[in-house]
Amino acid sequence: MEGIKLNQIGVSFKGSGSYVPDQILTNQKISQKVDTSDEWIKSRTGIAERRISSSGDNVTEMGYKAAKTAISMANWDIETIDLIILATSTPHDLFGSAPSIQAKLGANNAVAFDLTAACSGFLFALITASQFLKGGSFKRALVIGADQLSSFVDWNDRRSCILFGDGAGALAIEAISEFDNFIGFDMQTDGERGSFLNLPSKNKMDSIIDNVNFLSGGFSPIQMNGQEVYKFAVREVPLILDKLFRKTNISSDEIDWLVLHQANQRILDSVGERLKISRKKILSNLENYGNTSAATIPLMMDEAIRNNKIKQNDIIATSGFGAGLSWGAALIKWG
Ligand code: UT7
Repeated sequence: MEGIKLNQIGVSFKGSGSYVPDQILTNQKISQKVDTSDEWIKSRTGIAERRISSSGDNVTEMGYKAAKTAISMANWDIETIDLIILATSTPHDLFGSAPSIQAKLGANNAVAFDLTAACSGFLFALITASQFLKGGSFKRALVIGADQLSSFVDWNDRRSCILFGDGAGALAIEAISEFDNFIGFDMQTDGERGSFLNLPSKNKMDSIIDNVNFLSGGFSPIQMNGQEVYKFAVREVPLILDKLFRKTNISSDEIDWLVLHQANQRILDSVGERLKISRKKILSNLENYGNTSAATIPLMMDEAIRNNKIKQNDIIATSGFGAGLSWGAALIKWG
């Protein structure tokens, strides 16, 4: 008896979008708050300014705006979207913000949910969505990365507050049978090293009635061991990308662009050097936005696509890394 015929399903990249709040916080302005300088921040991180959400610009709003522009580039009818994944660690609603984005878009036929993996979130969400498409469950997916870390930064801690900014980015991807532009991926986590970067819950003992206690909710500001996170990134990111190049039989020479999570220019440079990828191929917009967590990769990609840097059929190696600790890589072809 014949089994079920297997059809190979691939992924095609159809659109990108992004959004950042208007409010700009320059290094100069941060130095009015903590003991730092424009010179120190630029030379140690490559960051000159970042965007900070003020009223209205929460993760739902930013994610919605990025998604809307990605949908219009893809030229999709809203009703045809099947899946929306929002990568975020700072949802407007802890129960999930993706369904609110779905409602604002009017994507009535989609299922929408949040996914949390800090700065690796977008990459993990992209991998997750691509598996739904390749498995044949869904045809059109929106993958959004949006974060508002400014609400969770300790603005008195100069070792961390200089790094982060707010923003959102999105990609529209589609199942297709003619080719597969999602070439390969790898992902890893190591909770043993999780204490290097946290946004922990802050529970205070309180009582409901006499002798019945509960822990009230809330969060402490971001806690980061910068040096350890730095060492982790410059070690693990080249390793996972190199492994992926070998697995997919694509050499680092063949890639057109390296789109890394935008954490620190020195991390980008070091990863590029270790993989022998020319600086011209390493995309960076750290100078303008700093580290926007789950948003950095789609924000960078959208900018490069709209500036005509990333073109149809360009091969992009991308890697996200951060809290968890978590890290991952994907090789894709644009289009
Ligand atoms: O998505 C992942 C998110 N996290 C990251 O990507 C973090 C990765 N790590 C980094 O990017 C870097 O470790 C930092 C940019 C955070 C720090 O750079 P560093 O070169 O590792 O500096 P450091 O922590 O070794 O500090 C060197 C000195 C210290 O002074 P002393 O002890 O040598 O006198 C710090 O107190 O620089 C001082 N320092 C600063 N000085 C001026 C630390 N932060 C600042 C600051 N301004 N903002």
